[in-house]
Amino acid sequence: MYNNLESVLFHETTILARLDELARDISRDYAGKPLTVVMILHGSLIFMADLLRRIHLPLQIESISVSSYHGGTASSGIITFHQNALPTVAGRHVLLVDDILDTGRTLAAIRDRLLAECQPASVKLCTLLKKRRPREVQVEADYVGFEIGDEFVIGYGLDYQGEYRNLPLIGTLKTEFIHPAGA
Ligand code: IMP
Ligand code: MG
Repeated sequence: MYNNLESVLFHETTILARLDELARDISRDYAGKPLTVVMILHGSLIFMADLLRRIHLPLQIESISVSSYHGGTASSGIITFHQNALPTVAGRHVLLVDDILDTGRTLAAIRDRLLAECQPASVKLCTLLKKRRPREVQVEADYVGFEIGDEFVIGYGLDYQGEYRNLPLIGTLKTEFIHPAGA
C-alpha cells in the first residue's frame, strides 16, 4: 500500500494534533447543548473515531450512508442515499461530519434534507479536508482540519475505488495506480 504513494500531505501525528484543536473548538461551541454528530459513511469513519474521542461532551452519534463518487477520481455530482430513513434529531444541534469538501454537493444535499425533514435546532458542517476550488453549490464548512489544493487524495478514511481508507496518513497516489475510466 505504501509503495503506491506519490506523496504524503499529512502524517498521523500532524492530523491528530489538528484534531485536538478542532475538538477544543467544537467542545467550546456545543457545551450545554443537545448535540448529535452525524457521520457520513464511509469516508468520515476514521476521522470521526479520532475526533469524537477528543470531545469531552455528552453527545449522540448517528450515520448517513451516501455515495457521490462512482469509481474514478472526479465527483459524479449525483448523490445516492443508501437508506430512506433519516436520523431522529428534532430539537437537537447537528454536526455533520464528512472526510472532504470538494464540489460541496454531498454535504449540501444532506444538510438540505435534514433541515427540510428533521427539524434540528441547528446544522453545522465539519470536514477533515477542504479543497481549494470553487464549490458547485452554496455550502461552507464550519470546522475544517486542513485546506488542500485541487488534487485527489487518499488515506485516513478517503478511498480510491473503495481502498486505502485504512492508511493512517493522507497522501496522493502514483498515477500508475489510477486507472483510466473503463480500464
Ligand atoms: P463533493 O460532494 O464533491 O463535495 O464530494 C464529497 C465526497 O467525494 C467525499 O465525501 C469523498 O467521498 C469524495 N471525494 C472528494 N474528493 C476526494 C478525494 O480527493 N479523494 C477521495 N475521495 C474524495
Ligand atoms: Mg468516497
